[in-house]
Amino acid sequence: MTHNSVIQEIKDRLDVVTVIGRYVPLKKSGGSYKGLCPFHSEKTPSFHVFPQTGTWKCFGCGAGGDIFTFVEKKENLPFPDVLRMLAREAGVRLEEPRPEVRDALNRLRDLHLQAASFFQSQLLAGPEGKRARDYLARREINQETIEKFQLGYARDGWEHLIGYLRGKGFTLEEMVQGGLAIQRESGGAYDRFRNRLIIPIRDVQGRVIAFGGRILGDGEPKYLNSPQTPIFDKSQVIFALDVAKRAIRAKDQVVLVEGYMDVISAHQRGFKNVVAAMGTSITPRQINILSRYSRNFVFALDADAAGARAAWRGVQIAQEELSRRGVLIPTAHGFRTENRMLADVSVAIMPEGKDPDDVLRESPEMWRALIENAIPVVDYTLQQTAQQFDLTTAAGKSQFVQKILPTLSKIGDPIQRRHYIGKAAGMVRVREIDIEEALKLFERQQRRSSSRGGRKSPAPPPVPPAPPPGAVSPSQSPDLPPDDVVLSSDEEPPLWLNENLATEPAPTRVAPSQPAARPQQPVIGAEEHLLGLILLYYQDLLPWLDEELAAQQIDPLYSEDFSDSLNRAVFEALDDFRFDEPEGDLIAFMSEQDARVQDHFLFLWDYARRFERTKPRHIQLHHLQREAVTSLIRLRLNHAKETQRQLEISLAETSAPEELRSLSRRFQELLGERRKLEQAMLAYSQAARWANNNRPAYVTSR
Ligand code: UTP
Ligand code: MN
Repeated sequence: MTHNSVIQEIKDRLDVVTVIGRYVPLKKSGGSYKGLCPFHSEKTPSFHVFPQTGTWKCFGCGAGGDIFTFVEKKENLPFPDVLRMLAREAGVRLEEPRPEVRDALNRLRDLHLQAASFFQSQLLAGPEGKRARDYLARREINQETIEKFQLGYARDGWEHLIGYLRGKGFTLEEMVQGGLAIQRESGGAYDRFRNRLIIPIRDVQGRVIAFGGRILGDGEPKYLNSPQTPIFDKSQVIFALDVAKRAIRAKDQVVLVEGYMDVISAHQRGFKNVVAAMGTSITPRQINILSRYSRNFVFALDADAAGARAAWRGVQIAQEELSRRGVLIPTAHGFRTENRMLADVSVAIMPEGKDPDDVLRESPEMWRALIENAIPVVDYTLQQTAQQFDLTTAAGKSQFVQKILPTLSKIGDPIQRRHYIGKAAGMVRVREIDIEEALKLFERQQRRSSSRGGRKSPAPPPVPPAPPPGAVSPSQSPDLPPDDVVLSSDEEPPLWLNENLATEPAPTRVAPSQPAARPQQPVIGAEEHLLGLILLYYQDLLPWLDEELAAQQIDPLYSEDFSDSLNRAVFEALDDFRFDEPEGDLIAFMSEQDARVQDHFLFLWDYARRFERTKPRHIQLHHLQREAVTSLIRLRLNHAKETQRQLEISLAETSAPEELRSLSRRFQELLGERRKLEQAMLAYSQAARWANNNRPAYVTSR
């Protein structure tokens, strides 16, 4: 279940009136319920609960939200705790480790920590480790590398590790569960790793979670690896990512090799953006993890890799996976979405008969040149495919074209696409238009087959009930701005406005806090866009935003500005991070968060990175800063409009004169707030326009 559907399901199962009714006595009033606000002191009830939308709002103090926000505020608990609490009540199962499971996982990590240090001491000390030390020396692996990768040695024998770990208080059962010991049928257990060089496998945070054991010299199997365990899933782990992630991000390039030894050898020679999958071809999940750090993939392939080998499958998986998700393409009118990813997958082919380690040892310069001159996978595919057919015959040409269409259709960039169409046409000596037609036909068929299994469009937004005739109808008030024209007409379209949102309720019309309007899949709306920018540029954006908002006499950014619980939780986590670990790694910090917060963070992060990569070059930080302010004002306007809508419902349903008066008063205040926000928006756009006078407009004005 996705995180959003978990939250939605909890909201569907729990009645907002029942949940809130436990804290606040509520009285039915028309279609909604009301009571005395628990968040400020008042004599007449201005706290309203709307069962239809699953939301609540106090028209007195302005607080409002869904059941999650209510319980968070009332119990003063962080979102993950509230989520657990309400999930239990709703009978929705969270796929999250229970405390005792979490403890068990930590025990397994401790087990590996201890084992790694035991193996290393065995390598470094004593005559027993000499065989392994000699082996490493023969492979030119130096002391610094041994320490960096914490290489070790498992002595020959049945119970060395078991004995050591027992002394550290671990049980046999734990050792078996961690894959370090193997159960005997007759009872008892023995060491899995015997007489092998030990290569610890670590997670992205650098915690040892498994081992690879290489035989010293020749023999079978060459490598013995830890089995799948509760802390080790080899389809998700990338070898050496913990020590490579910084360089991958800094170089904006990741180099994939096949072997542990290739990685180790590359790092030793200063090529630190090199990682490996776990011996099988890389999985989509691994590609996704890596793509958080860079979208430029170079696969180092053996000369004989062409077509058949796992590594080549990995190249195709990477290309497939990276082209799957949507990407924002800048246009003259803002952005549109292309269902393709601007990713760069290339291959570096090793000289005949050599693997990366051989090349690196022979000549680091040659390695550098091979990586620098890596061939884009499309060129390589054309080359390789051409060799399979006789391009002088009609049938050969046609087979060749059919074979390369899937590759061509994955090219998102129109210039590149044209380039490769031209190249392919030249190879088979036909007109470009013929390839184009074939490609169009292919893509039409693709679309048709994918739309058959496609996902449903979300339910339409709920329409607030019309006030009964005769009721005070504030929307007829001459004071009230018409609902759709809140923003000045010459305001620039927001950068997030793109076709992707065409199938979703437009965020300016539907308040994100209305649960029924929230689709199952996370969607980029104004909130997500703003938060994405903040995540990506927080160092430049947040301090600036604080000052700028103060200067414009606009309230500072609060987590309450995000009406979606997950957005709020991510924002709060970011705040903690800024405060607790100003020098730390945001992604690593987030990966320690609650699974759903983490998931949502990654979704937003991914969006922001895509945005960053595809934005026009002349968009600079000051544009984004400005966009952040206007996005924030827009969010607040949306919230004000939503409050107004709820207020209208309450007004229509109230007959007590006292309450009518207080609601009307609140209504007037709300109009004042809206006007203030609109003025701020106008003033801000003008000030910003003046400041930007001599800079190119990055989106055309309407
Ligand atoms: P290689 O045979 O290329 O290993 O297998 P290597 O790392 O280059 O080792 P050297 O240079 O011969 O010492 C590539 C990867 O496939 C997995 C390992 O992850 C290895 O690094 N593998 C290979 C196994 O898991 N088991 C095996 O028996 C062989
Ligand atoms: Mn090798």
